[in-house]
Amino acid sequence: MSEAAITRERVPSDRDGLIAVEHLGYRGKRYEIPCFDTTGGHVLKARPEDAPPLPSADESPVVRCIHGRWDLSEFERPRRPVSLGTLNAKELEVFTRPDAVRVLDMPIKLPDCDEYRLPRALAQFAGALQRIIDVEHTLNPHHADYHAYLTIDQRWVAPHTLHREAPCHVDGFQGARWHPRCYNNHSYTVSDVLPTAYYVQPFQLRHLDERLHDFFWEMNAQVADTDESFRWQPAEAELTLMDCYCVHRGVENTSPTPVFRTWLRLSFEERRRVFDRLGNAHNPLFDYDWPMVERDIEQLHLRAYREDDDPSLSVFPWQDLSGNPLPRGALKTKPRLRRRAPSATTPHADKA
Ligand SMILES: [Fe+2]
Repeated sequence: MSEAAITRERVPSDRDGLIAVEHLGYRGKRYEIPCFDTTGGHVLKARPEDAPPLPSADESPVVRCIHGRWDLSEFERPRRPVSLGTLNAKELEVFTRPDAVRVLDMPIKLPDCDEYRLPRALAQFAGALQRIIDVEHTLNPHHADYHAYLTIDQRWVAPHTLHREAPCHVDGFQGARWHPRCYNNHSYTVSDVLPTAYYVQPFQLRHLDERLHDFFWEMNAQVADTDESFRWQPAEAELTLMDCYCVHRGVENTSPTPVFRTWLRLSFEERRRVFDRLGNAHNPLFDYDWPMVERDIEQLHLRAYREDDDPSLSVFPWQDLSGNPLPRGALKTKPRLRRRAPSATTPHADKA
């Protein structure tokens, strides 16, 4: 796709600390990119002495794999994210303030820098981030080798939809583009409601070819093989740490009314993993200039390993069961993750 297919519209903002929001579109996707000003930013530094008690490497595969290198066999070892406590009522009141600026994978820490820089428009997240940073600098003695990328997403979640539609997947998957392998991604997340679902079961993936097969669709299939029986969810407002082998998926709002949700992720990626995807936010509190590029999994033209399986398990959410794009505004296609019983989480897959 050529550069000419990219649409951009810059809308000035009167929000404190925010100069404008750029609305960017390409290949049918839309992004809101905030343009922050540079005054009054928050600088956060780790206080490891404030970190909560944490599991040892023997007790948690996630802790064991911090600063390990990508290894597909790790998917065969089930793992639950590490629980890091919940935001208290006062913290939650600040965290959930409405009109939060949406941000996608913006670096708030660069390698060889031990401070985290947060534009002041994101001040409501400083408390949750401080708790995360305290843990990171306790668990990962190699934190200097990493970027920390921040994603904030706050919005109304309509009934029978997900906040962030996706198949079962992991964050920080290393496909054919990443040889030699990088250190493992590990990510901290918290949401006030609709906590993410994790699948604490072994996944057999070594027979797939990373140049041909979509691993996330195979994760869908293996979760469906167990009818989601290994599903685990943290509590609302619970901070957790997952790694790039924790298979997960957002959960649907099954209530009849919209739910307002605030979700935060801080992802740690080694220095080679520059998140230069067009649509990611820029942090003006750091001096860096990455050429941003279009990057989508669709461009890889991967296919399902199980070609004759339920088609809902191997199409993108914005496609119908034949792989054709859904009309704008249509409910997204959801994977049927329970083969033997009608799935309470997939009532619309047939209609998609
Ligand atoms: Fe994810």
